[in-house]
Amino acid sequence: MRQLNSEEFEKELSERVEKIELILQEALPAHITMQKTIRDAMEYSLMAGGKRLRPLLLSETYRLFGGEDMQQIHPFMAALEMIHTYSLVHDDLPAMDNDEYRRGRKTTHIVFGEDMGILAGDALLNYAYETAVKGAAACGQPERGLKALEILSEKAGVYGMVGGQVVDVELTGKPLEEEQLDFIYRLKTGALLEAAFMSGAALAGAGDEELQRMERIGCLVGQAFQIQDDILDIVSTTEELGKPVGSDVRNEKTTYVSLHGMDAAKKAVEEYSQEALELLDSVRGENPFLATLITALIHRKK
Ligand code: IPE
Ligand code: IPE
Ligand code: MG
Ligand code: MG
Ligand code: MG
Repeated sequence: MRQLNSEEFEKELSERVEKIELILQEALPAHITMQKTIRDAMEYSLMAGGKRLRPLLLSETYRLFGGEDMQQIHPFMAALEMIHTYSLVHDDLPAMDNDEYRRGRKTTHIVFGEDMGILAGDALLNYAYETAVKGAAACGQPERGLKALEILSEKAGVYGMVGGQVVDVELTGKPLEEEQLDFIYRLKTGALLEAAFMSGAALAGAGDEELQRMERIGCLVGQAFQIQDDILDIVSTTEELGKPVGSDVRNEKTTYVSLHGMDAAKKAVEEYSQEALELLDSVRGENPFLATLITALIHRKK
């Protein structure tokens, strides 16, 4: 698939991320009285400026399959980023990775306390579904909305991100087999990326075979993304990353890098991404921005 030059890509990327910021801000709960603290904690974590990769991939996949009514997919984009953000808020808790920085600021539990950190995660997760269900009810094609909801809920849960986090936590400090590491990465990180590709496609009316292909692309991008995350945990700085480096060593995590070495890890990021790009070529439709985004992730610095 054709790729954009870096100037075109950077321009489109910043326009799209800016738009996502607005969508997220507008999606936050508006009618709050005594429970104001929870809204503040939700806003604090959600509006901290992550890369917004998942809503971006959702909307670009929607476009890839010919989707045109961007308004219809906004609730799903917001919901996916809320689920991802809640996963980070809980991932940083003392009982999990015990990290104090995220997205360039103090983590939610450090600022609001551990109790509110837990509740902010719960609130974001629940509000994601409140948002997505309303979106599905309002969209002109309820069966597409329902399919997207099914994907989102499955990929976020026991068969997806939560399942991966469980095995990640359980096997922390223990030597891992290659197969266990693959399982963890496919679920804890891959699942929400699969959800992005698949729900974008579903909302544009893609069929089952196309959804399976998008799931595979999401899985490949997810593997590459998590391996790059492990690499950055070693080679980057807290300033650049916006979260602590060295977290994996401190927590005695086995990562792709500790298992296979840095060179093999860099090669794997490249290979998984190339495979994803080849599969993308086999899909009907054309989205040079999406192809360029997947390529750009190979060498991402944060
Ligand atoms: C961090 O995700 C957690 C992983 C799955 C590795 P991102 O790197 O997408 O975090 P943000 O959203 O940009 O903060
Ligand atoms: C977390 O993996 C993936 C999630 C589901 C949150 P990590 O624990 O490596 O993510 P970071 O490095 O804290 O962002
Ligand atoms: Mg973790
Ligand atoms: Mg972590
Ligand atoms: Mg990490």
